Amino acid sequence: MSNNIEGKVVVITGASSGLGEASARLLSAEGATVVLGARRQDRIQSLAEELTAQGGKALAMPTDVARREHVQKLVDAAVEAYGRIDVMINNAGLMPQAPLERLKVDEWDRMIDVNIKGVLYGIAAALPHMQRQRVGHFINVSSVAGHRVGPGFAVYAATKFAVRALSEGLRQEVKPYNIRTTVISPGAVATELPNSVTDPEAGARIRKFYAEAAIPAESFARTVAFAISQPEDVDINEILFRPTRQEL
Ligand SMILES: NC(=O)c1ccc[n+]([C@@H]2O[C@H](COP(=O)([O-])OP(=O)(O)OC[C@H]3O[C@@H](n4cnc5c(N)ncnc54)[C@H](OP(=O)(O)O)[C@@H]3O)[C@@H](O)[C@H]2O)c1
Repeated sequence: MSNNIEGKVVVITGASSGLGEASARLLSAEGATVVLGARRQDRIQSLAEELTAQGGKALAMPTDVARREHVQKLVDAAVEAYGRIDVMINNAGLMPQAPLERLKVDEWDRMIDVNIKGVLYGIAAALPHMQRQRVGHFINVSSVAGHRVGPGFAVYAATKFAVRALSEGLRQEVKPYNIRTTVISPGAVATELPNSVTDPEAGARIRKFYAEAAIPAESFARTVAFAISQPEDVDINEILFRPTRQEL
């Protein structure tokens, strides 16, 4: 029986580490063709080579999601190489948490550019192809912080609330084109994400929290595979999951 993943062309932003990398590995093992975007070219290139050596199909494309033309090139490369795009995973993001009073305005800008505008650029690049195909699937990565706000993560939470709002608007608009829309909101998952925190106090708190609570990145990859593997007439719109031991 088909898993509804095999043969699909899946574009993943932020595929050089963490959730994106784990998703690329699992989807490739399930038979998907994966097109990997991130800024660290060496990482995505060696991942693509590894997946290809294992019998998969994979392509790496250096991508800064804060630059619209990069994201367009990533998606167009997938369509050029494989003739279509079935799934766009807008995953790239960063989480430099700090209290607002620290006025880390450059980091606010960066989060807005990557976590919100990067997702929008992914939608802009993939939507016309999916409309033409009359089939497709967007998977946008929000967070538990897209459902609740706490001290130190106001801006990060704002970007992740925005991802949910965009995903819900998209969901309603793309119905006529047979396009599915999933927003996934993970809790603490062990990745390089805490490395993006520059504030020493917030960094120490987050690293301690992740060391105690975080679960492996494969937990996220399984939710991605679950959403994609549903029959085409089933649209999984929201997945919120946490480590069992995570209270917040
Ligand atoms: N881990 C968690 O606990 C957790 C919880 C909730 C939500 N999330 C979300 O999950 C997503 C993935 O994060 P992660 O946990 O896997 O962290 P990660 O290991 O730090 O991975 C982040 C990925 O985003 C990429 N990225 C960052 N800025 C980029 C840019 N400007 N252009 C292209 N790619 C960029 C990084 O690649 P390069 O540096 O090579 O560009 C990297 O591949 C993020 O949106 C994050 O907010 C994570």
